[in-house]
Amino acid sequence: MKNLEEEQPRQNILMICINRRVRKDEPSCAGRGSEALADRLEKEIQSRGINLIVERSKCMAHCRAGPTIRLAPRGKFYHGPSDDEIAALLDEAETLCGTTTDNDGDLTTNFLGS
Ligand code: FES
Repeated sequence: MKNLEEEQPRQNILMICINRRVRKDEPSCAGRGSEALADRLEKEIQSRGINLIVERSKCMAHCRAGPTIRLAPRGKFYHGPSDDEIAALLDEAETLCGTTTDNDGDLTTNFLGS
């Protein structure tokens, strides 16, 4: 019997928390601008042709340090990344995931919990 998980390559995912809390005195990634950051990352990933999908996720339990980002499954967490850290993240993603030459201009995005 074949194992289907072994036959299908695992998709690389850039997870970004877009959780927003109702109470303004509680920290959340959306409250710190993660939605705009997700838009920026999608555009830069598309521009560079990185073989990676952006997945807007719910809370990843790093709320006080957000926006929280993780390059899954192999990458580390980034918390409130600076412009230099975002550039390093994209370089790491390009190295780990490679690029696609058949990028047709569509943004590849998954929405969780929406
Ligand atoms: S709100 Fe983003 S990690 Fe919790």
